[in-house]
Amino acid sequence: MDIEKIIKRGVLSQEAYPAEERPYRIKLDANENPYPLSSALKRIIFERLQTVSLNRYPAPGSPGLRAAFARYYGVDEEMVLIGNGSDELIQILMTAVGSSCPCSILFPTPTFAMYGISALNTGYRIVEVPLNERLDLDTDAMLAAIADAQPPLIFLSYPNNPTGRCFDRGGIEKILEASSGLVVLDEAYGNFSGKTFLGDLDRWDNLVILRTLSKVGLAALRLGILIGRPPLVHQLNKVRLPYNVNIFSQIVGGLFVEHSEKFMELVDRIIADRKWLSDELMAIEGINPYPSDANFILFSCFTGKDDVYARLVERGVLIKNFMSPAVLRNCMRVTVGTTEENRGFIETLKGVL
Ligand SMILES: Cc1ncc(COP(=O)(O)O)c(C=O)c1O
Repeated sequence: MDIEKIIKRGVLSQEAYPAEERPYRIKLDANENPYPLSSALKRIIFERLQTVSLNRYPAPGSPGLRAAFARYYGVDEEMVLIGNGSDELIQILMTAVGSSCPCSILFPTPTFAMYGISALNTGYRIVEVPLNERLDLDTDAMLAAIADAQPPLIFLSYPNNPTGRCFDRGGIEKILEASSGLVVLDEAYGNFSGKTFLGDLDRWDNLVILRTLSKVGLAALRLGILIGRPPLVHQLNKVRLPYNVNIFSQIVGGLFVEHSEKFMELVDRIIADRKWLSDELMAIEGINPYPSDANFILFSCFTGKDDVYARLVERGVLIKNFMSPAVLRNCMRVTVGTTEENRGFIETLKGVL
């Protein structure tokens, strides 16, 4: 058998997502929340787990969670789809759309890698529109690409990973107006920006919003939430695997909704620490942090960046290094950690420089 003959070209063209585990002292490379769950919440989880029948499948479609998140976001239940992380929701969207393909998926670049990976895996062409020099949307170029490619799906990370800022709202509104396909506002970092399009779902029937619990302290659960118009969610539900969210995640996701204020206290702390971290980076010669609306900061380092990165890793400090695209050639990204982790990172960075 010639494996290359039977695997899609889009799959062949990629490397597997890097899953390298490195020893570390300070881990600030994956935009996670650095705070563990409180003992009080852990106790409640253990109590609820006593009631679970592990020999049974979990409820298909996570109806309890669906209702809880509908209340939490102030929308109808028919507008909510729960996924195994928003990564799965991205894949569900790609699997469901494309009635008149071959066609393309559009997104600005640089942005979250999974849009491109999932698009290639599902057989789409990708159309990437570079951000402008302020790392904001090049709205005219996006509109031209929409007119040219007529994509059934457009992804906008809001705030954008890895650049950190929310794109200009006016530009996004023009894209929503111009597109006859779905425009997905991926608000994975929405809790840190305080900005959202949740209040705009009545205005545009092609607006879809993604949220996740991964950035607010529950990354291990793999819980993503899609919010869109009921006719769309109805179709996407046919693509969702029946038991896509396991029972543990369904239980703990419900607890998040019940105790969300506790999680939001930590979000506030991270927002305050983001300012500290940004000020400290700014004060280091040769380092330039970009403004951030998220729980991470992109910064440029013009002297020996790859060496600096390698030495941070040697000292057990993990952050994210970028080789491409060109606009990120001199950039690295650091997640806002605990006060101690942030201090440890800054001290190590100064030592390395
Ligand atoms: C913009 C963006 N969307 C989605 C995700 C993935 O979220 P999840 O963990 O819910 O799959 C990430 C993760 O880093 C992200 O940066």
